[in-house]
Amino acid sequence: MARTIAIAMQKGGVGKTTTTINLAAGLAAMDYRVLAVDLDPQGNLTQHAGFDPEGVSPTIYNVLKAELDGLSWDIHGAVHGSEEGFDLLPSQPELSIIEITLMNALSRERVLTTVLEEIKADYDFILIDCSPSLNLLVINALTAADSVIIPIQTEYLAARGASMVLSTIETIRQKRLNPTLHVEGILLTMADTRTILTKDVLAAIEHQFGSGQHIFEAIVKRSVRFGESAVAGKSILAYDPKNPGAEAYRQIASEVARNTREEVVAYG
Ligand SMILES: Nc1ncnc2c1ncn2[C@@H]1O[C@H](COP(=O)(O)OP(=O)(O)OP(=O)(O)O)[C@@H](O)[C@H]1O
Ligand SMILES: [Mg+2]
Repeated sequence: MARTIAIAMQKGGVGKTTTTINLAAGLAAMDYRVLAVDLDPQGNLTQHAGFDPEGVSPTIYNVLKAELDGLSWDIHGAVHGSEEGFDLLPSQPELSIIEITLMNALSRERVLTTVLEEIKADYDFILIDCSPSLNLLVINALTAADSVIIPIQTEYLAARGASMVLSTIETIRQKRLNPTLHVEGILLTMADTRTILTKDVLAAIEHQFGSGQHIFEAIVKRSVRFGESAVAGKSILAYDPKNPGAEAYRQIASEVARNTREEVVAYG
C-alpha cells in the first residue's frame, strides 16, 4: 500500500510544486512506483511534468466530479505516465469548481481519500501537490495523507504560513479526520549559497515549529535551473542532473525512503 505524502504550505511560491516533481522523479529513479497528484487548479505540477493543463484529459477533476455525482469512474483512466518513470494524476482549471462543490458534499473532507483508495495498492508513494490557500482541497489532501512535507524558504523562517500549516494539521488530527497525520519533514529550500543548518537556523525553526520536528538534512539551494526545468517540462534531475539542486532532491528522496523503511519496521 502506498505511503501518501502531501506537500503543503499556506504560502505561495515556496517550492511545493518543485519539491513534488523532483521528489517524484527521485523516488522513481530509485525504482519506487510513484503517483504524483496535482491538486492545485493552477496546474503547475501538470505543466512541470510536461503536460498541458488546458488540454490534458481526463484529470483529477473528472475523478472527483464523478465521485461527488455518485457515478462510478475508474481512477486508473485519469493516470498519465510521465517520461521520468512516475505517474501523474493531472489537474485542470475546473478543479476550482470542485472546491466550491465540495462545500455541500457529504463527508466533504474525505472525497480524495475515497478515490485514492482504489489506486493505493498500485504504488509505493503517492505525492500530493497542494495549492497555497487553505481550502477544502487542501483539507482533503491532509486527510488522505500519512504525512506532510513543509517546504520553507530559509530567509523567511518566521513567515506566518508555517505556523498556519501546523495549526491546520493539528485541527485535522483533533477533528479525527486523520489522527495519525504527522510532519514528514521540514524542507529548507531556495537557500542562498551560504545557508547551512546553523544553530541560528535550527533555533528559528524550533521557535516556529516547536522542537522535535524532523528537518531534512539536504538543503535545496537557489538556482535559476529550477525555473528553466519547469519551462522545459522536466524535473531538475532530468534537466540538469549534475546541478546541486538535483543532488539535494536525490538525497531528499533517499531520506523519505529511509523514513518509510523505519516506519514499516516500527509500526508494521
Ligand atoms: N531552489 C530553487 N531555486 C530557484 N528557484 C526555485 C527553486 N525552487 C523553486 N523555484 C522557482 O520558484 C517558483 C515557485 O516555486 P514553486 O512553483 O515550486 O512554488 P509553489 O509553492 O508550488 O507555488 P504555489 O504556491 O504558487 O503553488 C517557480 O518559478 C520555481 O521554478
Ligand atoms: Mg505550486
